[in-house]
Amino acid sequence: MSEAGDALAAQYEAYPYPARDPADEARRLVTGSPSRLEEIDHYLFAGARDWSRPFRALVAGGGTGDATIMLAQQLADAGVPGEVVYLDRSAAARGIAEARVAARGLTNVRFVSGSLLEAAELAPGPYDYVDCCGVLHHLEDPAAGLKALSAVLGEDGGLGVMVYAPYGRSGVYELQAALGQLGRDLPLAERIALAHRLLAGLPTTNRFARNPLLGDHRRGDAELVDLLLNPIDRAFTVPEFAGLVDEAGLTIASFVEPLRYEPRLYLADESLRRRCDGLAPLEQAALAERLAGNLKTHVAYLARRPGTVARLDSPDWVPLLIEIDAGQLAASLERKGSIGGTVEGLDITLPVPPLAAALAAGIDGRRSFGEIVAALRAERGGAERDWVQAAQALTAALGGLNKLLLRRPASS
Ligand SMILES: C[S@@+](CC[C@H](N)C(=O)[O-])C[C@H]1O[C@@H](n2cnc3c(N)ncnc32)[C@H](O)[C@@H]1O
Repeated sequence: MSEAGDALAAQYEAYPYPARDPADEARRLVTGSPSRLEEIDHYLFAGARDWSRPFRALVAGGGTGDATIMLAQQLADAGVPGEVVYLDRSAAARGIAEARVAARGLTNVRFVSGSLLEAAELAPGPYDYVDCCGVLHHLEDPAAGLKALSAVLGEDGGLGVMVYAPYGRSGVYELQAALGQLGRDLPLAERIALAHRLLAGLPTTNRFARNPLLGDHRRGDAELVDLLLNPIDRAFTVPEFAGLVDEAGLTIASFVEPLRYEPRLYLADESLRRRCDGLAPLEQAALAERLAGNLKTHVAYLARRPGTVARLDSPDWVPLLIEIDAGQLAASLERKGSIGGTVEGLDITLPVPPLAAALAAGIDGRRSFGEIVAALRAERGGAERDWVQAAQALTAALGGLNKLLLRRPASS
């Protein structure tokens, strides 16, 4: 391994990432994207995976265990047979992840130590799913890393990845370089102290100081080290990320949240909107990233071939709300007539038809849109076409924010 590679390994040994206390498992489950089972189903299995079949997942560069535990807990809760294989080079990170798994009493996790570059030998596939978050951008050869993971993926399997994106990290790279100039020769603990001193007195014009999206370093030393003192750290634009994915023989099934990769979100002028409609999907995503300026990471699902994402093309689809209460959503839609919020500093307002409020109230994770509409029409009347249109608008808006996902009913 190179000097930088050795330094990276030593860093995650001294500062396992992210900082986690196994005692916290008693009070909360850390969740997020990628790797929610509903997302895996929606983005990689067209909403139709048979979850009575065993599910094998690899978490490559598992760190202190967030994705491993989320996956294993979800599988256990849903009674899905299978296993989650954790793979990481850091013994310290593994120790914390093991303690968290033990605290939850999970029995469906297997721990493996070593490099993901040797996944085929250390933790052979085939896997239905591979999670690799915040790791590829710390490898000397990210393409070799993704290829190694693609090699252990089953024919119908997919990956959930997260890599850094440059524009939302504005200020990070020159601060990393400045810290290198000031303290490259010092041991890590002293470089942390030096970084605190530098951060406390940065000029107000400094791009890091001016970037409101960057706050990880305030959470603790492990986070500060990961953000500012990492010996190997690169960010990928959309075209660079697409190149990496292509080199591994994979395709981008979807970015998450998908809406953030649509340039129309950032264009008010109708003639500009029409011009971007002519661009290929990946070009649109690249343009969206350039316009938005607030993407710090790319979270994406990757598959071997296109067509793995669920689409609302019939009334049979069961809508699932992710971390939103149907009643509260309906009340808010009733009041505002739109879905809105702030996504990493950007205020978003997505108008939906008035019927969407009643539809939202009917979402219970079991009934299909067809069943919800039939019940609402029996109660309130209205043309079927209008209800279908409202379902489509609600799905486009909430789905774009990754808050509504689709699942085929178990029997179809
Ligand atoms: C930033 S942490 C991310 C941890 C976890 N995936 C998460 O999102 O919370 C990066 C992890 O990748 C691990 N790592 C780095 N290079 C690796 C390699 N070649 N093989 C396996 N793990 C690696 C590090 O030890 C560290 O635990």
